[in-house]
Amino acid sequence: MKDILTLGIESSCDETSVAIVKNGREVLSNVINTQIAIHTQFGGVVPEIASRKHVENISNVTKEALKEANVTFDDIDIIACTYGPGLVGALLVGVSYAKALSYALNKPLVGTNHIEGHIAANYITNKKLEPPFLCLIISGGHTHLVHIKNYKEFEILGKTRDDAIGEAFDKVARVIGLGYPGGPKVDKLAKEGESTIQLPKTHFDNLDFSFSGIKTAVINLHHKDPQINKADLCASFEKTVTEELIDNTLKAAKSLKIKKIALAGGVSANSYIRNKFELLKKDGYEIFYPDIKLCTDNAAMIASAGYYNYINGKTSNLTLNAIPNLKLE
Ligand code: KG4
Ligand code: ZN
Repeated sequence: MKDILTLGIESSCDETSVAIVKNGREVLSNVINTQIAIHTQFGGVVPEIASRKHVENISNVTKEALKEANVTFDDIDIIACTYGPGLVGALLVGVSYAKALSYALNKPLVGTNHIEGHIAANYITNKKLEPPFLCLIISGGHTHLVHIKNYKEFEILGKTRDDAIGEAFDKVARVIGLGYPGGPKVDKLAKEGESTIQLPKTHFDNLDFSFSGIKTAVINLHHKDPQINKADLCASFEKTVTEELIDNTLKAAKSLKIKKIALAGGVSANSYIRNKFELLKKDGYEIFYPDIKLCTDNAAMIASAGYYNYINGKTSNLTLNAIPNLKLE
């Protein structure tokens, strides 16, 4: 069969990224232009600035991706782009650029769900991974426990009822003075602490999550006693949220009799969470993660998800629009 080259575009938040991926799994290039340094000054992503930076960067990032992959536009078979969920202005830049390329080059356009992209990051790192499996998507915007039935059918088993887990990491970090983005900073500091502080854990009858209670508890403890040991606070926060993630994932795995579990999204870069999921291997579970670089937003994951959409007949036309609250279905 002829190789299929996908040009993927990601612009849903504060990373402008373009990648070239062969047959959905082999990354030829994955250029990521991050705006973190700019947004850090404001303590979080400023949507208007993000859109403007995407406009400024997208052509150069695309040229770089083609050059690094050593291909030209002629070699590309499909154009895939994130069309949601995300910041509407930021998404529109990638969607408009992808539509223009698709029209000018006369190549198929594949609108791709950002969350499907995070799931697909696992296909790139784990060449043998095939559905069905469970995927726990933990990122700055999402916390979803999903049954990946095949390459195009997903069933959401549980999701957060309030904050996304990454949001909780970022908020905790901001309040205790670690800066933005908070996840990696909490990860680092927690290694120096002990999980000795009792924090509230949420339980629901179904497989939903909640992180706002624990976030508020950490913030209140810090406000009540600014001398409280921050490393212990971070370690206790990580331990409690990880228990919540593992409890629900195992409940789902047992009821569906699934032994394959994949993590995805920015928070799946967390070393404590990875170590705890690793321990499940002794109970016969297979645990998969994307490479650290593929956990946070990037276009290679979008190209991979776009490829699977394409071979399953899910293509778009030039009426494709950005959908900021796009759901996984
Ligand atoms: O997947 P992502 O790049 O963006 C969304 O689609 O939301 O995830 C970004 C999130 C941020 O909240 C960031 O703090 C978190 O991932 N993150 C981490 C780590 N690295 C990134 N959280 C915990 N530990 C980490 N090592
Ligand atoms: Zn993301």
